[in-house]
Amino acid sequence: MKNVVNKAGRMLVLFSALLITACNSKNNQDEPAQDRWKIGIALSDENTSDRWRLDGANMKALLEGLDFDVDLQYVNRDIAKQRTQIEAMMNEGCKVIVITAVDGNSLGDVLAKAKGKGITIIAYDRLLMNTPDVDYYITFDNLGVGEQQGEYIRKALKLESAEPTTYTIEFFTGPESDNNVNFYFQGAMSMLQPYLDSGKLTVPSGQKTMQECGIADWSITNAKNRMSQLINEYYFTGSMPDAILCSNDAVAQGVIQALDEKGGTDGKYPVITGQDAEKASVRYIIAPTPSQSMTVFKDIRTSARAVVTLIGSIKGNSQASIQFGTPYHNGVINVKTYACETTVVDASNWKEVLIDSGYYLASDFTDEK
Ligand code: BGC
Repeated sequence: MKNVVNKAGRMLVLFSALLITACNSKNNQDEPAQDRWKIGIALSDENTSDRWRLDGANMKALLEGLDFDVDLQYVNRDIAKQRTQIEAMMNEGCKVIVITAVDGNSLGDVLAKAKGKGITIIAYDRLLMNTPDVDYYITFDNLGVGEQQGEYIRKALKLESAEPTTYTIEFFTGPESDNNVNFYFQGAMSMLQPYLDSGKLTVPSGQKTMQECGIADWSITNAKNRMSQLINEYYFTGSMPDAILCSNDAVAQGVIQALDEKGGTDGKYPVITGQDAEKASVRYIIAPTPSQSMTVFKDIRTSARAVVTLIGSIKGNSQASIQFGTPYHNGVINVKTYACETTVVDASNWKEVLIDSGYYLASDFTDEK
């Protein structure tokens, strides 16, 4: 499976290069106004995770470089505003609308209208649920993200060893309105459930369902509040879990803030996971006393390129095409899906993955190492 994804990733880079070359040579001729396409990019949150600002900027720059007009909008997790915004994009003549939904279930009727106007809908990162009116899904291997987090905890605590030691764990994930959370949670649980069953791992709070562990709005503050509450109610003074599964970096940051406030970490933090390779979390990971243990890096340059390549092929550029992988089912239809691969990052490989690849500058972290 991973090999398929890797191969697809390499093909995509090749096709992107072809697309850019093809479109650049076309740019020299004067494109008739009616051939210029406007693309709407409706993103959910600019504030919960840094990645969304980068995602938007990346896609806009690539599309504008290929002579598309772009309407990029954020709604700060406001469902009603996102609906209005997408309607506005339809009315201003967008041919394609790329959507990261605040709530994947809330846009059905708006998408039906868009379909009626012949607009192509691309779900970005989060699937649009329970609607026949979504054409494509560009995302990451969401189940794989959860599996990588669960696997990291399994290895870090050496859960497979025959030693009789038992360990404690707490779970923190995202809101149910984000379909990705099902995959993140399920993927992590698939790695850890055997140890919960055998008693090698225990959950002092007893909170093990996605609903109980879901952090509303993926908010740092909400994660911090829940962690403080768990410590107060279920842990002796100065004690804490051996591991905390956090589905993303924002949630991990909130959890770490709560641990720091309660004191008692004594220079040693639990095994804490994350996702997105946000700068703040990378700093936690590479600090002399690391608080976060790992993050799952999703190279959003690749997903942005996939969107742009796809839009090129929709516009009829025969050299730009995408090799779709296993489709995701959205409750109504199987949606053509391209899922980019993800990489585990910790203190051992952060430079190679994040700096050498040009994703961040070394100077972003000069105080740390
Ligand atoms: C994305 C994550 C992000 C989270 C919060 C999820 O849908 O897949 O990358 O951390 O939303 O913004």
